Amino acid sequence: MNTALIGLQWGDEGKGKIVDILSENCDYIVRYQGGNNAGHTVVVGDKEFIFHLIPSGILHKNKVCVIGNGVVIEPESLLEEIDYLAKSGISVNKNLKISALCHVIMPYHRILDKLRESKRSNKIGTTGRGIGPCYADKISRCGIRVVDLLNPRIFKEKLKDNIAEKNEIFQKVYNHPGFSFDEIYSKYLAYAKKISVFVADTATLLQQALKKNKCILFEGAQGTFLDIDFGTYPYVTSSNVTVGGVCNGAGITPKAIDMIIGVVKAYTTRVGEGPFPTEFDKGFCDFIRKKGKEFGATTGRPRRCGWFDAVLARHAINLSGVEEVAVTKLDVLDNLKEIFVCTAYKYKGKIFKYFPYDFEVLRNAKPVYRKFSGWNKTTSKIKKFGALPKNALNYLSALEGLISSRIKIVSVGSKREETIFR
Ligand code: IMP
Repeated sequence: MNTALIGLQWGDEGKGKIVDILSENCDYIVRYQGGNNAGHTVVVGDKEFIFHLIPSGILHKNKVCVIGNGVVIEPESLLEEIDYLAKSGISVNKNLKISALCHVIMPYHRILDKLRESKRSNKIGTTGRGIGPCYADKISRCGIRVVDLLNPRIFKEKLKDNIAEKNEIFQKVYNHPGFSFDEIYSKYLAYAKKISVFVADTATLLQQALKKNKCILFEGAQGTFLDIDFGTYPYVTSSNVTVGGVCNGAGITPKAIDMIIGVVKAYTTRVGEGPFPTEFDKGFCDFIRKKGKEFGATTGRPRRCGWFDAVLARHAINLSGVEEVAVTKLDVLDNLKEIFVCTAYKYKGKIFKYFPYDFEVLRNAKPVYRKFSGWNKTTSKIKKFGALPKNALNYLSALEGLISSRIKIVSVGSKREETIFR
């Protein structure tokens, strides 16, 4: 069975852990969008691994891990990640495949990300990794792909054009000295040499896998409300995070996806700027952040925290056709007296049960909350769904009703064994 795993909030839902668990029974694990802005944390025993580009499934032996064409690649960061894994005794040499069609993040993308952000009056809170400018070049048809890096003549042509155009913009608009062709050319050719062993026609590879009835897991990065089309634009990332991104980002037919699993936290978090209707006040936010270790895995930035927002989750489930839900970090709510869930928004006397796209509404909407009693018990040792405290079961059952979806996995800690399957 082929599964797509999608984040239903603003990223950091704990997808890395769920991917790691589901990978056990899969043959291929595929990233299809985003870049090294993502940070997927997986805890194995007492060791914590953080992945930015390589699918978290790499921790399992004999799985083919694919970076699909929809991903943007920063070669230095990729090579660092490969080294970091090697130091932990995990070799990617046989099992990592990178699409020749991935676009490559260049130094000017990273610098432009930061320069643009510094000039914006409404800052996005970008990770500054050059993701947006790289995708912008892809759409503008001037991007450089992995396959271009492998052909020094083509790479030279494309880089020359790019540097000429970028340098003019950097100097005139941003008062930046610009970039040296020679420096980037030789640096990136050296990267290409190291990366070339992993490069493949991954769309064909996956199509062949499908023909052989292999099991594929598509690993989403970021969350639905960071999706370039459906997220809280412009406070979003620059790729399609929702299930539609799987087909374009991996080169497979939608008919190949048998199951769509959505991942939500038992509450909500967000890194970076943008509207967040259920955000806690500072004191309570600090408390939950500490308890849930809510700091960005990529930038270390403190995450903003808030109550579970059923309006968001419901919309995300519908957008991706999610059939089963994994709820993570339930244990973080263990000792709370009261827990709130947002069931609708209110703005100027009007109730919004559906996610409003009008920015003014979203920014000023007041959540309509339903109150739940806490369970005041530790859940992290519980192995069976039915053994969860009664109030935790009430909470989960209410969430199921509000999001019209079945909760199949509950995560009650960062370790593999702290997971309840229903
Ligand atoms: P960018 O994609 O790095 O430009 O970031 C755009 C927005 O998406 C910012 O608010 C980031 O904090 C957020 N973002 C990007 N990647 C992730 C992620 O993996 N988890 C959570 N937020 C992310």
